[in-house]
Amino acid sequence: MSVKKEWPFGITPENYPEFMGKCSEHTTRKGKDLEGYFLEKPDPDRVIYEVYEAQGTGRMRLALTILKPGKVGTEYHMTKGHFHEDPEAGEIYFALKGQGIIIMQDREGQACDLSLRPGTVACIPPGWAHRTVNAGKEDFVMLAIYPDTAGHDYAAIEKKGFIRRVMEKDGKPQIM
Ligand SMILES: [Fe+2]
Repeated sequence: MSVKKEWPFGITPENYPEFMGKCSEHTTRKGKDLEGYFLEKPDPDRVIYEVYEAQGTGRMRLALTILKPGKVGTEYHMTKGHFHEDPEAGEIYFALKGQGIIIMQDREGQACDLSLRPGTVACIPPGWAHRTVNAGKEDFVMLAIYPDTAGHDYAAIEKKGFIRRVMEKDGKPQIM
């Protein structure tokens, strides 16, 4: 089997906009795309997050997420969250900028969370749905690396929802 020749490259907190230019897919999620996810109704035209995806390297896909700062009511901006269609596919997150929290939940309903700051590498084992929250006041930027066979299953967690939410209390993010 012939393998397409690729050039090595690095992604840093400074040069990630260059990587965005190499991506084949760009998705913008606005408030109207996240109706029913927050406790309150989001402004339909407000950009909540953007994802830049690249076919990646080897058998891995790369996705850069830019999660905008802000809240819907007292709930911090977050991604939809998903399980992987492939039950054996995990994921690695590398935080590049800002302050974030990953909320995770398995199919039995057990939940956990991890704080992310620039330089944090988070390991999401197979079988855990994952959602990212911007817990800071600037863009939260992270790179996700996952097998190209992973697939996204949004529906499984959409119905039940994540048990944990990140809400503002006394001016600070709190996991409820
Ligand atoms: Fe994922």
